[in-house]
Amino acid sequence: MLKPWALVSALLLVAGSGEASSTCFLRKFHCDNGDEISMWGKCDGGQSDCRDLSDEKPAMCAVPNTTLAVGDSLTATVRYDSNHNSIVFLLCGDQGCNGLWLDGPLSSGGMKYEADSGCNLLGFQCSLVWHTFADGTFLTGDLVFGVERNATGLSVWREGLQEHTAFLPAPLEYTNLKVRPGCWDTNMDVQFGDAVSSWPPVPAPSQCPPAVEYLLLPVAARCGEYIVCIRGIPQRKRCPSPTQFNYSRQTCDLSANMPCKG
Ligand SMILES: *[C@@H]1O[C@H](CO)[C@@H](O)[C@H](O)[C@H]1NC(C)=O
Ligand SMILES: *[C@@H]1O[C@H](CO)[C@@H](O)[C@H](O)[C@H]1NC(C)=O
Ligand SMILES: *[C@@H]1O[C@H](CO)[C@@H](O)[C@H](O)[C@H]1NC(C)=O
Repeated sequence: MLKPWALVSALLLVAGSGEASSTCFLRKFHCDNGDEISMWGKCDGGQSDCRDLSDEKPAMCAVPNTTLAVGDSLTATVRYDSNHNSIVFLLCGDQGCNGLWLDGPLSSGGMKYEADSGCNLLGFQCSLVWHTFADGTFLTGDLVFGVERNATGLSVWREGLQEHTAFLPAPLEYTNLKVRPGCWDTNMDVQFGDAVSSWPPVPAPSQCPPAVEYLLLPVAARCGEYIVCIRGIPQRKRCPSPTQFNYSRQTCDLSANMPCKG
């Protein structure tokens, strides 16, 4: 039995992730206890689908994931099946994720997508931030995406089409990239390439760059101090003793690891 509030949240979810979810609703997942639920409830982090929670088994719902720090870029090769309905890129912290639901290509070369925030760790129960609508779904096969994390969020594009980037705003502490199918009917294999980092900029700028949301800069001849730059505005800070500021790691580090003298 679907509880009434579960139905309401299920309907909100449909509204929140495009018409692509509707076909997922019609497919069935069989719970261990013999109940049947909609495939849409499988691996959504919800507690209200299978009463025995067999639709949320951690091993079954493990999402391919990798760390993506600010400035990192990588490729993700996705083995897509049309039953997946969407390819979902999640950028996550410890408590939640923001999600980019890619629903298909547009004739312009762009993508039909939706950007959500405030999602749970499996990318559900989000609030809608922004979306594009048009016809077109991805075709079954391997799809290669470029992914880049900057200080304000996550850019995703189809290989060779970087001028048509979908963007997901995300807070700085979200550094875990996960890629899952919108409809988890069958598993979706994802291979991540090695991350290439272009952050922080080398050499370190001598002043806070106005166009950069957030960057920590070293202070000449003061190893235990650093400058927090927020949109060009500097604020001087001190590392907790005995640590020293490490620019490449953008953090205060144990002095023993540090070549800095002063
Ligand atoms: C992240 O990926 C690893 C394998 O690389 C997997 O064991 C783990 O369960 C995944 N984490 C989540 C939260 O799905
Ligand atoms: C991050 O990338 C997006 C999309 O390219 C861009 O609009 C935004 O200004 C970038 N943010 C920063 C801080 O560079
Ligand atoms: C910062 O940390 C990295 C990695 O641990 C290390 O290689 C480097 O020497 C450290 N020091 C400075 C000044 O960046």
